[in-house]
Amino acid sequence: MAAAKPSERSRGQASREACGETRPGRGGRACPGAGRHPGSRHAGHSPEATLAAARAAAPSPTPSAEVNAFNRLLKPVGRFNRPAVESGIHDPANDMTLQLQPPSVAFAAMPKSMAGNHVDWVKSLDSKAIAPRWDRNDPAAAAVVMDLNIVREVKGSMPDVVYPHKQHTEWLDCSNCHPKIFVPQKGANQISMASILLGQKCGVCHGKVAFPVSECRLCHSKTEAVVAAEKKP
Ligand code: HEC
Ligand code: HEC
Ligand code: HEC
Repeated sequence: MAAAKPSERSRGQASREACGETRPGRGGRACPGAGRHPGSRHAGHSPEATLAAARAAAPSPTPSAEVNAFNRLLKPVGRFNRPAVESGIHDPANDMTLQLQPPSVAFAAMPKSMAGNHVDWVKSLDSKAIAPRWDRNDPAAAAVVMDLNIVREVKGSMPDVVYPHKQHTEWLDCSNCHPKIFVPQKGANQISMASILLGQKCGVCHGKVAFPVSECRLCHSKTEAVVAAEKKP
């Protein structure tokens, strides 16, 4: 689903170029095969009508800051934590939207990070800057925290990945990951950066609701210093 967008886009672009549409002075040329395409809505129309319709449907060629907007991991700098009216999520016409506390105000006192919404959520929880309810209906319920690290060996120059159950089970239930995202058995799951970037495996959350893929070292954290420290008796 996430992967379909860019490829659709480039296919559309390629076919427009093939039709000479992007080249000035050749605008009148009919797209070869336009009328013959089995799925074409415009089959049977004149080449001019086809071209006009294609032009109307084509995205504006004006360059904008949004060139990478299809990639949720490359959000333009400076566009995070905007007030609710500008968030694109809340209805700007609704009066209540204006009464919502802007995230930048709510997050001001919280430990900072370099990415995502620039809050270090792990530290925020550790330092009790926030105390979210574990159970919506039971204010006394507490998380079942499991302190188990899983090291995933990485072939290549990146340090190995240390997956910490502790930081996850402070927020999440076992069933958020097991068994749908990960079979609960060390090494039983195929994980790659490609799948993470496509929003699978760790990417189901990282880049969406947890720190993004740009923070390599938070996951690839098994440095030589850590390895050496573990080897000491
Ligand atoms: C955020 C996702 C996530 C959550 C939540 C989570 N786990 Fe896991 N779990 C993993 C991953 C990733 C692995 C490693 C799988 C692999 O190496 O292929 C794993 C592995 C395991 C293993 C296998 C350990 C081994 O040595 O083979 C067990 C058992 C396990 N989890 C139990 C739990 C329990 C119990 C909970 C809840 C208290 C829990 N997990 C919560 C992601 C999660
Ligand atoms: C959310 C955690 C996470 C982040 C952030 C992350 N990685 Fe990974 N990375 C993984 C996991 C998990 C694997 C799979 C390890 C395995 O083989 O089991 C992996 C594998 C890799 C591999 C091995 C080959 C491959 O593609 O699978 C490379 C290289 C790599 N990562 C580089 C990076 C770089 C560079 C960054 C930062 C731009 C990064 N990673 C950020 C979790 C992460
Ligand atoms: C179900 C959602 C979910 C999945 C799947 C998931 N994570 Fe996380 N992860 C979180 C949340 C939520 C946090 C805490 C908030 C944050 O740090 O952004 C977190 C935090 C972490 C941290 C702690 C960083 C710190 O500051 O201490 C690491 C490391 C990490 N994840 C690695 C991984 C790796 C590697 C995988 C895949 C094997 C993975 N996560 C899969 C949701 C998830």
